[in-house]
Amino acid sequence: MNRDSALPPRSVFCFTTMWSIWKCYRSRLPVGAALCVFVLCWLYVFPVYRIPDQKEIVNDVLHQPVWRRNQTATTAFRRLLENCCETKRMFAVTQHNSPMGKNLWFDGEFLHSLSVNNEMFAMFPQDTPFQIPLKKCSVVGNGGILKRSACGDKIDKADFVMRCNLPPLSNEYARDVGHRTQLVTANPSIIKKRYQNLMWSRKAFVESMKVYGRSYIYMPGFSMKAGTEPSFRTYYTLSDVNANQTIIFANPDFLRNVQKFWKGKGVHAKRLSTGLFLVSVALGLCEEVTLYGFWPFSTDLEERTISHHYYDNVMPDTSYHAMPEEFLQLWLLHKSGILKIHVGKCGQIPM
Ligand SMILES: *[C@@H]1O[C@H](CO)[C@@H](O)[C@H](O)[C@H]1NC(C)=O
Ligand SMILES: *[C@@H]1O[C@H](CO)[C@@H](O)[C@H](O)[C@H]1NC(C)=O
Repeated sequence: MNRDSALPPRSVFCFTTMWSIWKCYRSRLPVGAALCVFVLCWLYVFPVYRIPDQKEIVNDVLHQPVWRRNQTATTAFRRLLENCCETKRMFAVTQHNSPMGKNLWFDGEFLHSLSVNNEMFAMFPQDTPFQIPLKKCSVVGNGGILKRSACGDKIDKADFVMRCNLPPLSNEYARDVGHRTQLVTANPSIIKKRYQNLMWSRKAFVESMKVYGRSYIYMPGFSMKAGTEPSFRTYYTLSDVNANQTIIFANPDFLRNVQKFWKGKGVHAKRLSTGLFLVSVALGLCEEVTLYGFWPFSTDLEERTISHHYYDNVMPDTSYHAMPEEFLQLWLLHKSGILKIHVGKCGQIPM
């Protein structure tokens, strides 16, 4: 008869003699190691450091001294960002940084690239198309905090105004968000959703771009496979009618580096929000950066409920972005005097 089969169950057996405890310990070792590896992986993906909650952040915002630019801190931060990401040279795809035959590796796909050919090359500007450095920049997020803010004039006063995701700019919003735009981002998914991928309604699209004046439209055309075709279509739609807006494509190498940069500072999101990408662009291109409409919470500083965007209340996909975490990083930059976040109102609104 097999001796082992006559032994008591393992758990009981373990605690009978010293010898068996040792044996048990040894046999459990690989399990323990596996558990350990699992816990480490878990902590990497879901770090346990505590993010301050909304109350603490609001308290901090309300008790800030008057904001002052800190030139030393700004210069130091710029240097860090420049070392990682070379914003001025790299933020857009240009003929200079993406010559014929170069492989553009998509930043949102695993091992997918597109080699620059004749047609693509012709779409790229020769070099970064603005006079750099830009002086004062407003970066406008689309947060509901902008509603009834009366910040429109202040936003428009900057030399260069950047906006996110083709936001509505009709007259009803002008008082709060202004109307000038020099650069606006556009995700290919919006082109798909709002304009049926430009298969039919090109005229409506061209019309609706007129609110952006002579703006550059900054599209991540080389991030996801599915986004390239809509981006090219958008380019041709506007250039075919000689529209005043110009498409520039986000450089996937730049996006990848920016993502790494913020990950190194503790932003754990599958993908950064457009807002944080745009702020990174602004910090690289502009001498002075002021943010408006960046506020990830559902109540304002006086605890009144606000909508998610200034124009609607559609919630984002929270599993994808890490908004409060991103805001915290920006708030640290605000406190260090590197950029200014405008949260409150800019003037009185008659009731
Ligand atoms: C400005 O920033 C530097 C470096 O971050 C810091 O050492 C200095 O104390 C700051 N100056 C003021 C006035 O806060
Ligand atoms: C471009 O802008 C000019 C004014 O800056 C305007 O007169 C013209 O109609 C615009 N062109 C298009 C195609 O919208």
